Amino acid sequence: MEKKNIDWGNLGFGYVQTDYRYVSNFKNGAWDDGEITTDANIVLNECAGVLQYAQTAFEGMKAYTTEDGHIVVFRPDLNASRMADSARRLEMPVFPEEKFIEAVTEVVKANEAWVPPYGSGATLYLRPYMFGSNPVIGVKPADEYQFRILCTPVGPYFKGGVKPLTLKVSDFDRAAPCGTGNIKAGLNYAMSLHAIVTAHHEGYDENMYLDSKTRTKVEETGGANFLFVTKDGKVVTPKSDTILPSITRRSLLVVAKEYLGLEVEEREVYIDEVKDFAECGLCGTAAVISPVGKIVNHGEEICFPSGMTEMGPVTKKLYDTLTGIQMGRIEAPEGWIHVIK
Ligand code: PLP
Ligand code: COI
Repeated sequence: MEKKNIDWGNLGFGYVQTDYRYVSNFKNGAWDDGEITTDANIVLNECAGVLQYAQTAFEGMKAYTTEDGHIVVFRPDLNASRMADSARRLEMPVFPEEKFIEAVTEVVKANEAWVPPYGSGATLYLRPYMFGSNPVIGVKPADEYQFRILCTPVGPYFKGGVKPLTLKVSDFDRAAPCGTGNIKAGLNYAMSLHAIVTAHHEGYDENMYLDSKTRTKVEETGGANFLFVTKDGKVVTPKSDTILPSITRRSLLVVAKEYLGLEVEEREVYIDEVKDFAECGLCGTAAVISPVGKIVNHGEEICFPSGMTEMGPVTKKLYDTLTGIQMGRIEAPEGWIHVIK
């Protein structure tokens, strides 16, 4: 299959309309068979549940071309089950997990020409999402839903690729105890927009959110979990019920332990101890692992010894091993790689 004529190496993290997307509708209590369509537009009633009460959730995953020319997706079963968790929490019908993986397979196959070549630095980002589609005016769940998967070729999430980031400890909250911070609800991102625009205006790359109850513990950023490395090489990651259970973070803990022989700790991390870490990184599907060089906490500058020019050594090893697994250079644990073709 001939690839699209795209300057793959210079793609940012943006929307490029590809040829095909997957769509399935839920009506009268059941999902239809679903299909691939060329129509990128959605026509909705003015009173649709998603427009009035933000009844929507999404996922994010990537398709990669491996060193030996296969097209693969990384752990789509975990995205399927997290989307099911999001749906349940938002009173939406679950899109069956097996069907989710079939839909991913179909839509990536259809868009094969858009899957960036091996070694280009780009990947095909997949965005499954679902929303309440019929009119709702009283505050209640919709009766009808649409599930879709769009695809877009992407480069690095942060401009500058792997240049260490500067973060601000935000005065805004992303999630509340017993709220929706642990699911991928669109509303979590809507309420982070003012915080990220404010941070960007002030010259920061991202926000570090603290727990909203005590404002003492590290949570996550608007789109990634945190990883820290101690001065003696231990990998530490915040444990919280109000952060998104990142598939990248869960995978990296396995990589750190099983592939790199590092000690790992998932525990509460206090903002006061962050200054003692040697390295810090953001991890997620879009972020992959993006190094953090500096965090500013209300005038206090926390500068990591790894500096502002390169990834720290442990972060780099984690990055190389994870991307090696995703691109087929390193053998993956059983079940991590879903081969499309
Ligand atoms: N945290 C938030 C708020 C996110 O939006 C994401 C992205 O999906 C992540 C963390 C990372 O999760 P994952 O590694 O599953 O992409
Ligand atoms: C992802 O990493 O897939 C995300 O969803 C994060 C961000 C782009 C919202």
